[in-house]
Amino acid sequence: MAVYPIVIAQQKFTHQDSLRYPFEERGLQFGDGIYEVIRIYGGKYYLLTEHLDRLFRSAEAIKIDLAISKEKLSQLLLKLLEKNNMEKDGKVYLQATRGSAPRDHAFPKDVPANMYAYVQDLPRQLDKLKHGVSAITTPDVRWENCYIKSLNLLPNVLAKQEAKEQGCYEAILHRGELVTECSSSNIYLVKDGEIHTHPATNRILYGCVRLRVEAFAKALSIPFYEEGFHKENIYDADEMFLSSSTSEVMPIVSVDGKQIKDGIPGPITRKLQQAYEKDAEIIDNKIASST
Ligand code: PDD
Repeated sequence: MAVYPIVIAQQKFTHQDSLRYPFEERGLQFGDGIYEVIRIYGGKYYLLTEHLDRLFRSAEAIKIDLAISKEKLSQLLLKLLEKNNMEKDGKVYLQATRGSAPRDHAFPKDVPANMYAYVQDLPRQLDKLKHGVSAITTPDVRWENCYIKSLNLLPNVLAKQEAKEQGCYEAILHRGELVTECSSSNIYLVKDGEIHTHPATNRILYGCVRLRVEAFAKALSIPFYEEGFHKENIYDADEMFLSSSTSEVMPIVSVDGKQIKDGIPGPITRKLQQAYEKDAEIIDNKIASST
């Protein structure tokens, strides 16, 4: 998808062609930075506050001074959509790094953070949302601080590639027997009318959509247990689904080549998808109307 022409770089609006980054950049050389992917529906942000809260939590965790307030950044991001006349479904990618400086592992002194953000179209994946996707399982070999949305994504990249090579949409990660999350989404298991997912500890990224899924479950009186589940529980689950800003509430209908229950999205997943569409104020292109 093409990037919309106007981007934010160092708190200013500029044309994407005028962006220049030196090779000696902490994000490039060390993955020394953080990011967010923020969903847009009909030209409006979904969960902007939640994403900004997480961005600032990540920045604090790795001691990057973003040198901007949440309010100011929020205004800039809103303006970014306006300046690009963005009225479709899309996403903003925002990245902040510890800045540009001669390569040295230790933090550079008095170097400002680099921050940029750009907009792209992202149509909803209606076909997948309706029929579900398949996944593989693979060991979670990441570090202990997965609650930080860090640029260090190599284990995630390798896991996703493994899934892709097996014709699957996602890779479900597990530490020992305990399922943590997916390579770029959170994961849930439904059994006997109850939702199970990993607790929001340092071992997973606390998804903005996960926050909403928990609220939807509460509103729908569906028990939501944050105690995690084991890999072996997957194969006799009633339903499985994942969530993220780009995947929304996505049904998983087969794992490791084995069908989940009847191999079709289950009723609880559907209810959560409907709750999501309502919450995100999605008017056209609904899952139900795509049949
Ligand atoms: N990924 N877990 C991981 C490891 C993720 O990378 C993501 C998001 C999530 C879900 O977070 P949220 O609900 O806030 O989107 C969970 C984004 C979409 C990405 O890296 O592209």
